[in-house]
Amino acid sequence: MADEPTVLHPLPALLTLAAYLEGRVRAGQQRIWMSEPARQALKEMIRMKPGRMEMRPVVVASVAREPVVEAAKVETEVEVPKPETVSKEMPVVEIVPESVVPVVPVEEVPKVETVPEREAPVMPVVLVERTREEKEEALAAVKARAEVGERARALGTLRETMVFAVGNPDSPLMLVGEAPGAEEEKQLEPFVGPAGQLLDKMLAAMGLDRGGVYISNLCKFRPAMSGGAQGTGNRAPTAAEMAACVEFVREEIAIIRPRVIVALGATASEGLLGRKVAITRERGQWQTFEGIPLMLTLHPSYLLRAAQEGPVRGNAEKRKAWEDLLAVMDRLGMPVSEKQRGFFRKVPRE
Ligand code: URA
Repeated sequence: MADEPTVLHPLPALLTLAAYLEGRVRAGQQRIWMSEPARQALKEMIRMKPGRMEMRPVVVASVAREPVVEAAKVETEVEVPKPETVSKEMPVVEIVPESVVPVVPVEEVPKVETVPEREAPVMPVVLVERTREEKEEALAAVKARAEVGERARALGTLRETMVFAVGNPDSPLMLVGEAPGAEEEKQLEPFVGPAGQLLDKMLAAMGLDRGGVYISNLCKFRPAMSGGAQGTGNRAPTAAEMAACVEFVREEIAIIRPRVIVALGATASEGLLGRKVAITRERGQWQTFEGIPLMLTLHPSYLLRAAQEGPVRGNAEKRKAWEDLLAVMDRLGMPVSEKQRGFFRKVPRE
């Protein structure tokens, strides 16, 4: 892409971009990597209101495909919007990928063809691939807003202290729990109590640790117990409490763009999917959250409770959660040893 975008009028620039994307999509590519100046210029153009242009902007619509080309050096990602995200107000360049089509160099801008307007919301989506520092900065801003948490605090059913997230924002794996408990509230970190210690063991069995993944909670505040008798008592957040916080998890996911999300337990699964989840039936099944593969699994607290009923039941339930995590490892392309595949298969003696 040209590195001197300021000389371009937004409309021809966007047409050029549309044509370029068309060529790339035809060539089977879905991700475009851009230099920093081009990225800034594009952001500037996207910020412009249609009324400030002589004509309305063009949206490129493409059929979703698996990316076949990955650039080694990633600076910026422009995601080609899917057809359903195309705005009614905007002319659309329809791209129908063909099996083998030559790549169109950016200098040879092909004629763009407009097709009738479609029903649907939303402006063009431009996803910016961030560096780790940029992600940390963006997450700090989300954390600050979560701390204010007007909607959550207005409910009056959550405690004061906010517990945000922990881990590596560059991780391909994000785990989402329901809400902090007593220990998390004390240490200001998700999953540091008994459930967290089991989670750490499961991560270790995967060859990971909490510093290498990103761990967050749907609800950022410990749910208060009724009658003010909190003590060390914990409870699951209600649907209203999760709804008051879900925007922050959504933003975290948008910043991190993990390759896989794991929802720990029914409550977190329900918070993400926005519907009732029968976790013992639905665990182990792939869902998607905003296009990202989402694995539903059992909550470590549930596994701890199952273990209290005896080693056979405890092991059987752990095996189920472990199978879900093996599926996650497979999905992430992590090598799985025979030993790992066999974990929790042996039936312990009662
Ligand atoms: N359970 C959760 O869901 N989250 C925590 O942070 C701790 C326990």
